[in-house]
Amino acid sequence: MRTLYIISVFLHILSVIFWLGGATFLSFVLIPSISKSQEYPALFEKIAKRYSGITWSLIFPLILITGYFNAYMRTGFFSPAKWIEVSYDTFLKFHIFFLIVLLSAVHDFWLGKKAVEHLKAGKSSPLRKASAWIGRINFVLGIIMLLLGIRIVRGW
Ligand code: HEM
Repeated sequence: MRTLYIISVFLHILSVIFWLGGATFLSFVLIPSISKSQEYPALFEKIAKRYSGITWSLIFPLILITGYFNAYMRTGFFSPAKWIEVSYDTFLKFHIFFLIVLLSAVHDFWLGKKAVEHLKAGKSSPLRKASAWIGRINFVLGIIMLLLGIRIVRGW
């Protein structure tokens, strides 16, 4: 069981690196580097589709399953309602994660799609702004999850 726990924490951190690292790279390196080029709309759509596809099919399920198992190994309880008795941060993380998933769904399956259409049409629109803002809010929530993860393990 101990080995499984170590593997779970490893996969938890690795999947978080992909998701949060991917969002960071997109925002601070890729978009500023190519946003002035003519191919930007088509390139951005291709990259966003691939990142989103991997996130929904592999990364989000992996973060949830390993997070859930980590929480069980730390608290001894299967039920998230019981986690609050042992680790409020673990209970908090579980719920913030669903907010991240909800915002990502709005971003990836509705606003983001509309924003790319407007981007391709060369139109600036409130939907493009809203899509960018949801991305930023999710990034901040991801940083909060990172800090909560560190606090769960090390306390402060
Ligand atoms: C975007 C989502 C998430 C991020 C960014 C994240 C980040 C992290 C990080 C970086 C750690 C390692 C901390 C360290 O070793 O110092 C960690 C540990 C942990 N996370 Fe998450 N996590 C996420 C989602 C979740 C979810 C959904 C749960 C609960 C269901 C969860 C429960 C835990 C637990 C219990 C640990 C402690 C692992 C251990 O026992 O060593 N996490 N998290």
